[in-house]
Amino acid sequence: MCGIVGYIGKGDAKTVVLQGLEKLEYRGYDSAGIAVIKDSKIMIEKKKGKLKNLENHLENLDLESHIGIGHTRWATHGEPSDRNSHPHFTEDMSIAVVHNGIIENYATLKSELIQKGYNFTSDTDTEVVAHLIHSIYEGDLFSALTKALKLLRGSYALGVIHKDFPNEIICTRKDSPLVIGLGENENLIASDVPAILKYTKNVYFLEDGDIARLTADNVEIFDKTLVPVEREIKVIEWDYEQATKGGFPHFMIKEIFEQPKSIEETLNRRIHDGIIDFSDVLTEDEIKKFNMIHIVACGTAYHAGLQGQYALREISGVNSLVEIASEYRYMNPFVDENTLAIFVSQSGETLDTLAALKEAKARGAKTIAITNVVGSTISREAHKTIYTMAGPEIAVASTKAYTTQVIILQLLSIYLAEKKGRISKEKASDFIKELYSVSEKIKTTLDNVDIIKDVAEFMKDKHNGFYIGRGVDFATALEGSLKMKEITYIHTEAFPAGELKHGSIALIEPGTPVVVVAMQTNLLEKTISNIKELKARGAHIVTVARNSCLEAKEVSDEFIGVGEIDDVFSVLLAVIPLQLLSYFTSIKKGIDVDKPRNLAKSVTVE
Ligand code: G6P
Repeated sequence: MCGIVGYIGKGDAKTVVLQGLEKLEYRGYDSAGIAVIKDSKIMIEKKKGKLKNLENHLENLDLESHIGIGHTRWATHGEPSDRNSHPHFTEDMSIAVVHNGIIENYATLKSELIQKGYNFTSDTDTEVVAHLIHSIYEGDLFSALTKALKLLRGSYALGVIHKDFPNEIICTRKDSPLVIGLGENENLIASDVPAILKYTKNVYFLEDGDIARLTADNVEIFDKTLVPVEREIKVIEWDYEQATKGGFPHFMIKEIFEQPKSIEETLNRRIHDGIIDFSDVLTEDEIKKFNMIHIVACGTAYHAGLQGQYALREISGVNSLVEIASEYRYMNPFVDENTLAIFVSQSGETLDTLAALKEAKARGAKTIAITNVVGSTISREAHKTIYTMAGPEIAVASTKAYTTQVIILQLLSIYLAEKKGRISKEKASDFIKELYSVSEKIKTTLDNVDIIKDVAEFMKDKHNGFYIGRGVDFATALEGSLKMKEITYIHTEAFPAGELKHGSIALIEPGTPVVVVAMQTNLLEKTISNIKELKARGAHIVTVARNSCLEAKEVSDEFIGVGEIDDVFSVLLAVIPLQLLSYFTSIKKGIDVDKPRNLAKSVTVE
């Protein structure tokens, strides 16, 4: 939710900042802006809309400088406009600020500052930060910021520059991510690693409350009590290439095609010599003690949680509850020291998920994060973290992060089942073999996308549709439907196949698309009856099922076949055509598939 970048060093700040912002556009693209210091003056340029608008605007402007901060915005306070874009600044143009997060007490601070004579030029919460620092400033930017922080409530990652300090950037974070990149005679700040990877793989992940002062050749970090601290330098494992499109037209399709590899890497990370290992996150005693598992997440990660719940029930016989993070926090959840609470988040930064984690932790639960981002806030807040090995996911609509989250939850289910003596070693290794076969089977679907493109041609002119499935196929349908909404703007809803007739079937008209997920063998006959009910009312049936499922093929208008797989893992094959269908429909509608309207990949507001 908003991306910030800062650069100080031997290179051209404008170039570095714009390149960084390009990698952060997934965090919001309502506007973009940049501030540099040139000839002891702060120069600021900002433009509403995607980064391209700012880049075009800057083409013939001379902003050459060795220091700069930039921002890409997802609007919270104030409409998307040039005026509300960051960086925000003081009237005398001495201070410029970029911010990710929300200043919760901005209204009080704003009226106090107005009384002191400050004029505001935007509707944002961020602008108070610039004026507040100015009102406290006595010749030292670092000290003014530290005093201002004492008055701020809310979440923030901040980058601040002052015209009289052309050789330093001050930054800080609280409940919003911020990394510092360590280069040679240059240092950077950013909301996320891809923004700085071109320049360095060595980073500091700031702790909550840390304040740092960057010059071209030095980084000093202080904790929230202003004591100097050493943070560990982390070396990022993946490289810049992985954060580029690598020959694909969009990140989303690249990421869909990366799934065989990311699934294999996630399996390899947890399976050694044919045995699943989670001993780093769960002790044998804990496994015996827990009588309940909570899985908490938002959006696609929540759908991964539903798949996990099914695997936990079917394979390990463990009772679990899956909740949407924004609800969990306020639902007075039954959670105590006998609960294992698992928080699933691709970014590891989703504020709702983070807040839910803190709630469970405060009530005594053992907390585990499943995330894709090393060093993310949720990974640090949880007692233990399990990393998915999806690599950077840039497209707003999640694909490879989802399948790797699902794999982790399925592996965990097998692990618990074995530890609890519910399944034998042999059964566990059969499951493992089945999971290892998934990558090759996905490749077959990826090699045969023509049928999916044909269905997309049909979908592109529709305004609404349904996704249905029984058992865990319903969870798969939910994810397929969300994907369609996110990137095609077609209104779809997912239902348990047997539930549609209890009301919503009234919406079926001749030609209404209904995507059916029919992977549960024991429920197939029932699903086919539901298909027939819908066909009788004119629905256009698109079924995803095993290639061998002739019964489903016969009753469907379009049939997308996938390989053979155990029912419990079936989502891993069935979701791939659903992802592709959304992608191709979006492309056919001419939508910017990687950056659909109104969304952001990382949502760090409640
Ligand atoms: C946003 C994104 C979704 C994502 C959800 C959870 O709403 O648009 O694609 O599934 O956040 O994100 P997380 O990073 O916590 O998995």
